Amino acid sequence: MSPNTMKIINDAGHLTVGGCDVVDLAAEFGTPLYLFDEGFIRNRCREYLDEFGKRYPKVEIAYASKAALTGAIARIMDQEGMALDVASAGELYTALQANFPADRIKMHGNFKSDLEMRMAIESGVGRIVVDSLDELDRLNALASEIGQPANLLIRVRPGIDTHTHELIQTGQVDSKFGMGIYGGEAEEAVRRALVGENLVLHGLHCHIGSQLLEIDGFERAVDLMLEFISHLRSEMGWECEDLDLGGGLGIRYTEKDYPPSVTELAEIMSARLLAKLSEHGLPEPRLILEPGRSIVGEAGVTVYSVGVVKQIPDLRTYVSVDGGLSDNPRPALYDAVYEAIVANKADQEPSQWVRVAGKHCETDTLIDDILIQDVEPGDLLAVFATGAYNYAMASNYNRFTRPAVVLCNNGEAALIVKRETLDDIVSHDVIPAHLQ
Ligand code: LLP
Repeated sequence: MSPNTMKIINDAGHLTVGGCDVVDLAAEFGTPLYLFDEGFIRNRCREYLDEFGKRYPKVEIAYASKAALTGAIARIMDQEGMALDVASAGELYTALQANFPADRIKMHGNFKSDLEMRMAIESGVGRIVVDSLDELDRLNALASEIGQPANLLIRVRPGIDTHTHELIQTGQVDSKFGMGIYGGEAEEAVRRALVGENLVLHGLHCHIGSQLLEIDGFERAVDLMLEFISHLRSEMGWECEDLDLGGGLGIRYTEKDYPPSVTELAEIMSARLLAKLSEHGLPEPRLILEPGRSIVGEAGVTVYSVGVVKQIPDLRTYVSVDGGLSDNPRPALYDAVYEAIVANKADQEPSQWVRVAGKHCETDTLIDDILIQDVEPGDLLAVFATGAYNYAMASNYNRFTRPAVVLCNNGEAALIVKRETLDDIVSHDVIPAHLQ
């Protein structure tokens, strides 16, 4: 679905999401407001499961919950038969509280605290993805203390440079994640895992980067991982049961982005994998993928109220909205570009170029330059493709309250995260006696 196909407009000339009128939702739940189209999310899960499932014999699709996780989203993933990738105690706790089956959870992180490793082992998560030799040794010791073996994958750094923002590249040689193939660290990890008394090694993992708009990086990952698996088999007779190739498929933030479809990814990746397996004479491991952004990104729309329209003569028009850096840090962090429309004038032709500014006490530009409908204070601005890494990365900067999150489906809206209140903002403050 492109940003355009998300633009479904009703008879009132208002934008709709999941069949709900965005103007009504703003009146009911306030702004800024995160909306998710539940049908879109469910369809993407099914697309991944079907497209890979029909091309490769054993597939598990683990939603990367860092993109957006709430109890309700965890329930959707469970209902759709997805597995879940979590990367912190908070994500794991959210999933377990929502009764997500632990055996379908993968625990990630380049520095898992003892608490996180303990939670992972004790709750019985399906796989712990080990990121370093230090962690492997700590995990072995903790598993022995708890008296329960740890089921693990080794995270490999394949040494692949991808074409994406440098902050979201992860598989290159110079990265904090995983253990290198070159230099022998990953091989050493496999050796140690095989002799670790409380460790059960099931396979290997890699994740090369995020918002990838080309498939070649995935193909190189398949090639390198299979060469490595083949090498490990000849060195130590080890058979790889799980091959987790991470997430990373890009999405369409603007009309200029042309990400590969899930079908294209499934076709190319499965074909490459099957060809390389037969080339190396290897048995088929279970294929695990961890898509995040491509499951929820285009399902999300953020709705803001327009507060101020300021014209700087002969230069530009600034439109200030009631959110910004705190609900969407991506433009500031990654120069991310978004598209938007005026939700209550969605049927009108765009007529002016504006810069959309947030309301934080700094230059928090949300959209640098956009052609949009005639916009005035009191209008509602809807920004598209904000489902991934927006709610998840929201902060309380300037002591803003974080927005509510609403799930929209077939014309029904359901609140899934309440808007924070001013009392929430001060609820963790402590004023010690000498300051009272
Ligand atoms: N698996 C692992 C181990 C990951 O580190 C990630 C993302 C994923 C899966 C999911 O990747 P996706 O399918 O969503 O591309 N905050 C940044 C993105 C950071 C991604 C971190 N890891 C952003 O807003 O663009």
